[in-house]
Amino acid sequence: MKVIASAPGKLMIFGEHAVVYQRPCLVTAVSSRIEVEIEEINSGFSINAPQVKDVRFIEETIKVFKERYKISSAKGLLIKTKSDFSSLYGFGSSSAVTVATITALSKIYDLNLTKEEIFKLGYQINLNVQKVGSGFDIAAAIFGGIVYFVTGGQVIEPIKTKKIPLVVGYSGVKADTPKIVQELKKKIDNKFFKKRADEIFDEIKNLTQSAKEKLIKADWLSLGLLMNKNQSLLTELGVSTKKLDYMCQAAIKAGAWGAKLSGAGGGDCMIALVSDEKRKLVEEAITQVGGQIINVSAQAEGVRVKIKI
Ligand code: PMV
Repeated sequence: MKVIASAPGKLMIFGEHAVVYQRPCLVTAVSSRIEVEIEEINSGFSINAPQVKDVRFIEETIKVFKERYKISSAKGLLIKTKSDFSSLYGFGSSSAVTVATITALSKIYDLNLTKEEIFKLGYQINLNVQKVGSGFDIAAAIFGGIVYFVTGGQVIEPIKTKKIPLVVGYSGVKADTPKIVQELKKKIDNKFFKKRADEIFDEIKNLTQSAKEKLIKADWLSLGLLMNKNQSLLTELGVSTKKLDYMCQAAIKAGAWGAKLSGAGGGDCMIALVSDEKRKLVEEAITQVGGQIINVSAQAEGVRVKIKI
């Protein structure tokens, strides 16, 4: 039997870092996807994943899956992946590949896992390999659309709204998310910063909750202002970079409703919320300060199985 499953990448809209500390975030799945094809073969195990930066996620998924579901089949597996985005952008290729692999295995072994079961397994695999993380990217890859999410999947709430008009700019620098999360943790362990960090996370929590309401109403003007406030707090946490700041400022100057970094910071992408009329101007402004526009759209469909032979 051969199964192909594909899962989307993601972009954080609100709440990064705070979501590692028991606060909520808002994440959207994006139109770039990773496809995982799994075929049962007579024996052996082979992975062909040229665009996946870290095949440990696939290896760990197979291992944990077989242990959890007591798979004792003597047959082997041939695994191939195809991606339509570079792992450089921070779109969550690891979580997408993990979710697609679990979903394909669930079909191969006829387990009919629920989304919640796939989340639990995916989050555990994510932590086994990466040690840190809230699991928001796993939820986005499974559920798709926009998700309101609290640390470890305590809340996973799909949000229905109009198409969110985002421009995405890549800073040209690959961010090392686990490293940035660990460095921030070290900083917070210092008692002088801890109090302020807690206040910042609470402020981000309030912003994220307001953002959820504005998002549902498609009130882009208010949402943009909240993005700018979130960006200031991320700058205060020390996770933004000069390049990301310039890109956000350029976007706002060119008429965006708001702009902020998306994800761990330290590089990767920023997002700007823009009207159709201002889109071109904003894209040009971001490019002029050295950013690269990435053409993806938000609210993509979550994991899906394409073919089963
Ligand atoms: O760098 P990204 O896009 O994977 O986003 C990381 C977001 C954090 O909140 C910093 C970490 C997490 O797992 O929630």
